[in-house]
Amino acid sequence: MSVLPLELLPESSFVGEDGRLQIGGRDVVELAEEFGTPLFVYDEQQLRDRCREAMAAFPGGVAYATKAFLCGAMAQLAVEEGLNLDVSTGGELHVALAAGAPPDRLVFHGNNKSARELEMAVESGVGRIVIDSLAEIDRLEAVLADQDAEADVLIRVNPGVVAHTHEYLQTGVADSKFGVSIEGGVAADAVVRVNDSPRMSLVGIHAHVGSQVFDVESFGRLVDSLAGFVGPLGLPELSIGGGLGVAYVEGESAPSITEWGALVHSAIATSGLEAKVTVEPGRAIVAQAAITLYTVGTIKEIPGVRTYVSVDGGMSDNPRPVLYGSGYEVFVPRATDRDRDLEVRVVGKHCESGDVLVWSGRVTRDLGLGDVLATPVTGAYGHTMGSNYNMVLRPPVVFVRDGEAREVVRREAYEDLTTRDTVIQRVRPELSS
Ligand code: LLP
Repeated sequence: MSVLPLELLPESSFVGEDGRLQIGGRDVVELAEEFGTPLFVYDEQQLRDRCREAMAAFPGGVAYATKAFLCGAMAQLAVEEGLNLDVSTGGELHVALAAGAPPDRLVFHGNNKSARELEMAVESGVGRIVIDSLAEIDRLEAVLADQDAEADVLIRVNPGVVAHTHEYLQTGVADSKFGVSIEGGVAADAVVRVNDSPRMSLVGIHAHVGSQVFDVESFGRLVDSLAGFVGPLGLPELSIGGGLGVAYVEGESAPSITEWGALVHSAIATSGLEAKVTVEPGRAIVAQAAITLYTVGTIKEIPGVRTYVSVDGGMSDNPRPVLYGSGYEVFVPRATDRDRDLEVRVVGKHCESGDVLVWSGRVTRDLGLGDVLATPVTGAYGHTMGSNYNMVLRPPVVFVRDGEAREVVRREAYEDLTTRDTVIQRVRPELSS
């Protein structure tokens, strides 16, 4: 027996006496009827509140990591709330600019930026370029010379710090493709080479320990390990990246952004560093603000084994369970307050046994075909990591607030699947959207 832990739901959630869930003043089952399923539903006020919390906790500056969730509405919201945007590819850069983000509020990341991506960044006038390798210094120098331009840069260093998280999500360990390592002197070389450049101004150092980090002490260790290298440089900025974790399932708890800020500032004070500290949270801003809605299509009880509930989405809208073995909760929004007394595995519609959304979840026993099912905490790295596997259409995104729902990304249409196919376009031009 277990009732869904309400703290995993978006903050504007309200469960009526009939047990039906509302978010942002909208009945969730009605949203599924209006917009169809699968559907991402974001609590807009919560997105804004997390942005404001981050700005208050890190007055030195916050760049929202767009890889966690990006669309025009999200880019605009973060900019309106005073955040900068961290983009890590030409694609993220393009979307952020297309959404109207001021170029000087963009921070451009990436461990293998192409010359074309660097050209885009320089042409558009991004505020900061974060250098990730020695080779990139030469590549950027050439682009700047070509465009007769200058750039403010940070150097991403590898601090050699182990953060407690999934192996794929650690980035600050010695054996990593990211950054230039302090140990062995590569980072010091990078500083000399950037300082020698007439077109680059070195404004700071950047480091990122990893993602989904629950133990804020990892950030304290990061600051400690950077202090000896960063202090003598006397640069104005220090970015400690993102990575703060969030609770996904019952029993987990994560530090708040405010607690993260307090720990980082105290570590900075102890270290004696004087640089302005900036951060790049993604997940902590968006993850808990959203739920995903699905419709149940098939229920198979395999006697003595388990019950499989198949829904109309799957690894194409949330690959995290398959990629990292991540756990999620599941519930039935028409009966949010009811005991979840049936154990199930929630699976998608893809032709793969690994297509699992919830390995072991609990739902109310009267779950039936056609019911709307929801997974909470899907606001980060779901929509952005989605795919068209099996030519499944990508879901729409709806922002809800004060009783209003606005569709900010429409559902993909079958025509979208053939617009880039040059053969089909030639023989069936009427199929282009
Ligand atoms: N800054 C840098 C340089 C990063 O590489 C990342 C994440 C962030 C900031 C934001 O991290 P966050 O605050 O969101 O943890 N796909 C994985 C997460 C990969 C994160 C990659 N870098 C997942 O679904 O858990």
